Amino acid sequence: MYFRPGTHEEAGLSFSPIKAIISPRPIGWISSRGEDGSINLAPYSYFNAISEQPPMVIFSSAPMGNSGHKDSIRNVMETEEFVVNIVSSALGNAMNITSGGLPYGESEFAAANLEIADCETVSVPRVAASPAALECKLWKVVELPKPDNADAGIMVVGTITGIHIDDKVIRDGKVDVTAFQPLARLGYMDYAQITNVFSMKRPDTD
Ligand SMILES: Cc1cc2nc3c(=O)[nH]c(=O)nc-3n(C[C@H](O)[C@H](O)[C@H](O)COP(=O)(O)O)c2cc1C
Repeated sequence: MYFRPGTHEEAGLSFSPIKAIISPRPIGWISSRGEDGSINLAPYSYFNAISEQPPMVIFSSAPMGNSGHKDSIRNVMETEEFVVNIVSSALGNAMNITSGGLPYGESEFAAANLEIADCETVSVPRVAASPAALECKLWKVVELPKPDNADAGIMVVGTITGIHIDDKVIRDGKVDVTAFQPLARLGYMDYAQITNVFSMKRPDTD
């Protein structure tokens, strides 16, 4: 099978398969604060680490047509800060609740019954129950190129300025992901948990 983006139905596929092909994807559970002081929390699986030095991450939002930006994007543009909270398997249901479209200013922390914890380098709160959280400052908002006859998404690039890790998931000086089983996004409505980890030595290391 071969087809061009946007023509999957003509190829016999009900849904675009791109997200299923590029999977698993980590979930950036983004907390942010607006200039009015309101707080927001929402999952983004167009999310990843993009550099170790400087330590940087991106997340991106689907276009919203004429209705402006998603709340997370609006807040990051206003206050230039955000936090990436890591989603353990145990937090999967709460994460899903926070993907609901609440009116601007209504807190998804409250809707999902999540306790808030403070950060050090940003005024944005984090999810207290997350096994790890990355405090981030905005570097750039990138408007993605507009396709013909369609709107374009928008990408946030941020620099990590502080790192929280729950001491319970550190074993022998390393983060043990099997202790919290990070949730990953697959295609469609599907998810995966990381439960089985193995190591491979690179050829040029001892
Ligand atoms: C696991 C998961 C991943 C998601 N990833 C994205 C994403 O990468 N980009 C996006 O625009 N929406 C994504 N969504 C949908 C947003 O979470 C949803 O539109 C949410 O209401 C946005 O909230 P906000 O307006 O408070 O930022 C995702 C939803 C789920 C459940």
